[in-house]
Amino acid sequence: MDDGSKLQPTATRFRWLNLARCTVASVVTVLAVVVIARAVVVLLRPEKLRLSVAGGRVSVSRMPAMKPLPRVNMSFVLRAFNPSGRASIEYTGITVALRAIDDGDAASPAAAAPIIAQFPFPDVPVAQQVAHEAAARVSLAAAEDVPLRYVKALFDGRGISAAIQVDGFLTTRMEIDGRISRSNGGVATTFYCLPVTIAVGDGDDDESRTRNTWCLDKSDVPAFVG
Ligand SMILES: *[C@@H]1O[C@H](CO)[C@@H](O)[C@H](O)[C@H]1NC(C)=O
Repeated sequence: MDDGSKLQPTATRFRWLNLARCTVASVVTVLAVVVIARAVVVLLRPEKLRLSVAGGRVSVSRMPAMKPLPRVNMSFVLRAFNPSGRASIEYTGITVALRAIDDGDAASPAAAAPIIAQFPFPDVPVAQQVAHEAAARVSLAAAEDVPLRYVKALFDGRGISAAIQVDGFLTTRMEIDGRISRSNGGVATTFYCLPVTIAVGDGDDDESRTRNTWCLDKSDVPAFVG
């Protein structure tokens, strides 16, 4: 019959149309899920904290004599910037280690370089798109806290090339619907700032020549810092 032969292709066409609709709906659903997942990832992604050492320099107070053994008073300024427009960052529980780096041996990992001095550093809270400066001022004992060969070099007016290793915990906080949401519970994060110069005095008077030394996140440069 004519009707029977006509019905068959129509039904087939409907089936195909249904299949096409289902497929389109599925693709749209998958896309929506992907878009939402991506938005959540972007929202919760921990933004990188940018750190630098002002003037690329650690200043040491002039020491009157080597006998009796002097105090080694050091200071430097860590500049922090939070590039995120959404998250505030807190870098806490910080310890800094000044490590001597050999100019002639750039390939040697900073993490293995000998320690000149090590001390705690104040917390660095950085709100969204805000810069923060934190100053370290420490008074260390020659020999006990700072090996004598470095004290002697500083006393003799020689600068020491160093890397500043910064260890601490990064906490990212986000405000969603007026509620603080903590995206992580403090991730152990290490930065290396190099090269910096440790020297007696306040450094170069010519501001234009004093450049900041950027700090690199250990995870960005695993090979570089060993
Ligand atoms: C280092 O700092 C201590 C404590 O602030 C102070 O008593 C001492 O005089 C300082 N020494 C030098 C060499 O600046």
